[in-house]
Amino acid sequence: MKTPVTVLGLGTMGTALARAFLSAGHPTTVWNRTPGRSPELDVLGAVRAVTAAEAVAASPLVVVCLLVDTTVRDTLDGLDLTGKVVVNLTNTTPDQARGLEATTAGAAYLDGGIMAVPAMIGGPHAFILYSGDAQAFEQHQPALAVLARPVYVGADAGLAALYDIALLSAMYGMFGGAQHALALMGSAQVPAAEFTEQLLLPWLTAMLGSVPRMAADLENPPETGSAGSNLAMQAAAYHNLIDTAEAQGVDPMLLRPMGELLQKAVASGHGDEDLAALIRLIA
Ligand SMILES: NC(=O)c1ccc[n+]([C@@H]2O[C@H](COP(=O)([O-])OP(=O)(O)OC[C@H]3O[C@@H](n4cnc5c(N)ncnc54)[C@H](OP(=O)(O)O)[C@@H]3O)[C@@H](O)[C@H]2O)c1
Repeated sequence: MKTPVTVLGLGTMGTALARAFLSAGHPTTVWNRTPGRSPELDVLGAVRAVTAAEAVAASPLVVVCLLVDTTVRDTLDGLDLTGKVVVNLTNTTPDQARGLEATTAGAAYLDGGIMAVPAMIGGPHAFILYSGDAQAFEQHQPALAVLARPVYVGADAGLAALYDIALLSAMYGMFGGAQHALALMGSAQVPAAEFTEQLLLPWLTAMLGSVPRMAADLENPPETGSAGSNLAMQAAAYHNLIDTAEAQGVDPMLLRPMGELLQKAVASGHGDEDLAALIRLIA
């Protein structure tokens, strides 16, 4: 028989997780603060627990996907977790993850970072980062793999959150740039969908190709200056990004921090270097 699983939390993500376990044939017990959420899970054979304590008692593997850290703490507070493997897939900071590990006495703790939206769960492109108890990860990897490709990043429970936050930070930076570009083109009534498909995506895709070089430069700083687009040139041109946004009536708030960092890099003598110098400055 496949490992029985409990899912605490039936928001959009918890529901997707429970559905994936049920579809893969895992006996699945679910609990949610507001009863009756996601009735489609009943059709798939989910067992509904009335209390979180009842839900935890039903399975050796307890997957938690609630709103925030305090929600998880309040929900788990006072429950008997002895002998359970608790997998917390709620978004946390590294310190929150370590704190939760310390409070789940008697249980093995894994913290996870879901790198997917609910519709991607169970599909080929989703992955979930895990850190914490290595033995628990080994034991339950087959069950966790039905959700998304499991990626174990280390025994420190806070590591998955750190990787997760790094990836989310990169995503929001990317979205911020795209959102500004769309606002700018919108100020001239350029159709957003066509601009995105024909120019924005190809441009961003080509520029993403320079990220591995940035990472390589960070690990092995080049002995000579920039091979192409030095920071002094970029800082000089960056004024035009701000001026154009303002002239078009678009708030440059998403752009300003990068301009300030470029100026700082040039002022502190890094004008002949490449973008990796910015990483060293903020680090
Ligand atoms: N959705 C995504 O794209 C996505 C992607 C990656 C990671 N995540 C993470 O996954 C977690 C869940 O996200 P979601 O999209 O499922 O959120 P959601 O749809 O807003 O669901 C929130 C869940 O938390 C429960 N909850 C909220 N406050 C509570 C409280 N005080 N006590 C007990 N339960 C409480 C809700 O129960 P009720 O039904 O009773 O309100 C519901 O089950 C979050 O940490 C999120 O950051 C989400």
